[in-house]
Amino acid sequence: MSSASNVSIDAYSEKASCERLLWVHRWTDKLLSFRTTRPAGYRFTAGQFARLGLEIDGQVVSRAYSITSAEHEDVLEYYAIIVPGGQFTSRLDALQPGDPVWVEKLSYGFMTADRFSDGRQLWMLATGTGLGPYVSILQQPEVWQRFEDLVLVHGVRQCAELAYADKFAQLRQQAAAQGWPARLHSLRCVTREEVLPSSPGLLAGRITDLLRGGQLEQAAGLSLTVDDARVMACGNPEMVTEVRELLRQRGMSPLRRAGGGQFVTEDYW
Ligand SMILES: Cc1cc2nc3c(=O)[nH]c(=O)nc-3n(C[C@H](O)[C@H](O)[C@H](O)COP(=O)(O)OP(=O)(O)OC[C@H]3O[C@@H](n4cnc5c(N)ncnc54)[C@H](O)[C@@H]3O)c2cc1C
Ligand SMILES: NC(=O)c1ccc[n+]([C@@H]2O[C@H](COP(=O)([O-])OP(=O)(O)OC[C@H]3O[C@@H](n4cnc5c(N)ncnc54)[C@H](OP(=O)(O)O)[C@@H]3O)[C@@H](O)[C@H]2O)c1
Repeated sequence: MSSASNVSIDAYSEKASCERLLWVHRWTDKLLSFRTTRPAGYRFTAGQFARLGLEIDGQVVSRAYSITSAEHEDVLEYYAIIVPGGQFTSRLDALQPGDPVWVEKLSYGFMTADRFSDGRQLWMLATGTGLGPYVSILQQPEVWQRFEDLVLVHGVRQCAELAYADKFAQLRQQAAAQGWPARLHSLRCVTREEVLPSSPGLLAGRITDLLRGGQLEQAAGLSLTVDDARVMACGNPEMVTEVRELLRQRGMSPLRRAGGGQFVTEDYW
């Protein structure tokens, strides 16, 4: 899926608001989280993405970014990878707090938890920065009240790329303190570094192989079934395609506007 566009600043300003970069946190040399001011009146549902624009050579280059902040926050936060040679991310990498970031006034995307009207478990599968929408979704109290089990599965190459782990631990504590019923299962799948079997929830291998082989269900202590499980998958498009096929083999189908279906997916490129 292409998310690119280059337009003049004048044309872009009709649909976007010129905001400011507020904060950058670097997880690794290639992974960062950043925050911008939030346009007045900007509305989104957790799981949606914003389209951001950066000024490059007198034009605006825009790309899609999932929002990681909670719906009520005054700022917008995102989780990004710097793609080697990437037009947008090379500029993003060089931004300093105070620099302009255009934010389109509309929010986009259909990967939101409120679209599932039934099911008891919410499975959230991500590779790499595909984790972003779940950081926002897990900050919504409704999701902890609506589901019995929240299963977050993050697939990365190296352990250092397992971002937001402290945030998830904090959300689990907050949920316990508030008496919210859902249990959060955090599974981390690492492909290019040896992982110690003693660390709970830490698995070796690709999400797709671990789903196919039953290790994800075993680690969560749950069965991923048509009746109980509702699934989101986000990130690497080849992973997403394979997950869709694996879910179909289990009798599941994509969520439909008219009702029915068990999964929803988002490709990042
Ligand atoms: C709906 C949607 C939501 C998105 N949300 C995010 C997000 O929250 N965070 C984020 O970092 N990116 C996200 N992306 C990807 C983002 O829009 C851009 O593709 C990315 O910023 C690269 O832009 P670029 O101009 O630097 O590189 P380009 O020159 O456009 O290079 C694109 C190539 O870089 C690789 N690539 C692009 N994005 C990623 C990625 N996220 N992880 C690994 N490899 C990648 C792919 O091989 C792709 O073909 C999203 C894309 C879509 C369609
Ligand atoms: N030039 C290229 O062709 C190319 C391709 C991909 C990424 N990149 C660049 O490399 C950087 C790394 O990105 P990233 O690590 O965040 O993303 P990523 O390459 O998508 O890898 C993240 C995780 O997803 C796994 N994965 C990849 N393909 C999968 C599939 N088909 N099914 C299931 N799991 C799959 C990876 O496993 P494995 O370790 O087993 O792959 C890894 O654990 C980015 O900058 C990106 O632009 C370049």
